[in-house]
Amino acid sequence: MEKRIVVTRTVPESAVEVLREVGEVHVCSQDGPLSVPELHDAVRGAHAIVTMLHDRVDAELVAAAGPQLQVVANVAVGYDNVDVPAVTERGVTVTNTPGVLVDATADLAFGLLLAVTRRLGEGERLLRAREPWTFHLGFKLGTGLQGKTLGIVGLGDIGQAVARRARAFGMNIAYTGRRRASVEVETELDARHLPLAELLRTADVVSLHCPLTEQTRHLIDAAALAAMKPTAFLVNTSRGPVVDEKALAEALREGRIAGAALDVFEHEPAVEPALLELDNVAIAPHLGSATVETRTAMAELAARNVAAVLRGAEPITPVG
Ligand code: DGY
Repeated sequence: MEKRIVVTRTVPESAVEVLREVGEVHVCSQDGPLSVPELHDAVRGAHAIVTMLHDRVDAELVAAAGPQLQVVANVAVGYDNVDVPAVTERGVTVTNTPGVLVDATADLAFGLLLAVTRRLGEGERLLRAREPWTFHLGFKLGTGLQGKTLGIVGLGDIGQAVARRARAFGMNIAYTGRRRASVEVETELDARHLPLAELLRTADVVSLHCPLTEQTRHLIDAAALAAMKPTAFLVNTSRGPVVDEKALAEALREGRIAGAALDVFEHEPAVEPALLELDNVAIAPHLGSATVETRTAMAELAARNVAAVLRGAEPITPVG
């Protein structure tokens, strides 16, 4: 009997082709995320499920699929949507897509940082509103990055890629994280390891690259924001709930920090309305990995993980 592979949202055809080699593929091609009952219904009888970051993967999903389920391949590097212990203890392999989205996400983080520090959104809105303007020396002045300190929270692959871009812009690097980076990485990036409190106090830009866990939920809360310099910027391309969005909106409105660049939101896809009112926020709808090349590579990696498990081989990028 052919194995049943359920893909919860449209993926590039090249990934579907990889999946077709190992089973019968059902792609859910609806416009938005499936509701939980729809998701549970769709996965019934599946041997493999290819999930997106908005799909809740837990014991209930595994039970809904049935005892034949072998693998859940999440098309994202983050897997906070997956209750990994609950799924793996039921004998189901979980995989993610690390590596392939590093450069795209780092590019986007840096692009958003430039957008907020150089007030690009404000400038564009002014032109699109057809407001009058003329060049003058004090017009829409931004903040230069050269010689400033980038404080990275989580110096994993993406954090390091952002640091490399920052070095090319003449920035100094500080970082915090559960683990110290290797001597090679610290030397290459000339990166100083600091406790979070000191990083917040001294950085000109704080950029978040940690996973969402119970320890990092609201890591950047009102107290953390109060510890930052009033001239500092916050960049978040990790997961929305790492930041207390209401506290952030208040800090931005009151000028307690200079600006924020956000690609992710606490209650995605909803965005805290107060943030949308503020000019010192550069904002994007979770576009970190959104290039044709990267999304294709992510979907293909997920498909190759599925193919490996269904063929009885080791997955390429397992989680847990
Ligand atoms: C991820 O992979 O975790 C990103 O947030 C989406 O690409």
